[in-house]
Amino acid sequence: MKHVRKAVIPAAGLGTRVLPATKAMPKEMLPIVDKPAIQYIVEEAAASGIEDILIITNRGKGLLEDHFDRAPELEARLTGSPEKEAVLEQIVHISRLANIFYVRQKETKGLGHAILCAKEFVGDEPFAVLYGDDVILGEDPVCGQLIRAWERYGKGVVGVKEVSEEAIKKYSSLKVEPLEGSCFLCTDMVEKPQRKEDILSLYSILGRCVLPPEIFGILERTAPGAGGEIQLTDAMAALAREQGMTAVDFTGTRYDMGNKLGILQATVEVALHHPEVGESFRAYLKELSKTL
Ligand code: UTP
Repeated sequence: MKHVRKAVIPAAGLGTRVLPATKAMPKEMLPIVDKPAIQYIVEEAAASGIEDILIITNRGKGLLEDHFDRAPELEARLTGSPEKEAVLEQIVHISRLANIFYVRQKETKGLGHAILCAKEFVGDEPFAVLYGDDVILGEDPVCGQLIRAWERYGKGVVGVKEVSEEAIKKYSSLKVEPLEGSCFLCTDMVEKPQRKEDILSLYSILGRCVLPPEIFGILERTAPGAGGEIQLTDAMAALAREQGMTAVDFTGTRYDMGNKLGILQATVEVALHHPEVGESFRAYLKELSKTL
């Protein structure tokens, strides 16, 4: 079985739920305390053993490329100053996380269409997908948890969590049966089920999957679905029905950086544990909470 060495990060959405912040700035560059969301995601992929990463971008996302590049002027300014040494190391480290490639999705036609833009990069290998606006933090990188399930069961893998009946209408719903531990066999799925009878279970895909290269052929045959976009879930549903997929109820805390509340939750929770500002931020929050 082929190992998972490549990852794709779709980051070509319009981010309309976070306007006006995302009018000119990609939502993937929104910071959680002092790091842009996409850096957490690239770090997760690198910690999971991924060597090559393709980021799907669109117009106006040059900032993403700059972030993972070297910054000679900045590095020169920080060099030689003992108190700036740690930050210099952090800046250089970003450009060494992985081999990062970019391709543009020329029209915003949905997540499935964005993944199709990765066909040449991926070739005949399995690959991980990390949604550019889902930051998942925890001891054990989620991408790695999914790769282990790929190696164990040899089928495409989706990262799932149970969500509320209200929330599932905005996500996907999976038909699952238990395998072992946190793994399930998934044999069908539906995107954004609106009626109660369309809900297959409260397990929903949240931000991560590992796909076999056959997904590209399926995507090419997938007609536009919900919202008139080519939905990755529709293609994965076909894959699940044809050969089954493994669903992993992953460990880790997920932050949805595609909506305003998710961004605030990420900021507060990461700040509380931040080595530099954590302690004073906690004291500040305690004081503030007395006035709420
Ligand atoms: P979303 O649907 O959450 O992203 O897609 P969006 O379109 O930016 O969201 P709105 O406008 O606030 O509703 C999930 C992921 O897929 C990427 C997004 O960048 C995000 O990381 N995506 C979505 C693409 O790369 N291309 C697309 O055409 C759509």
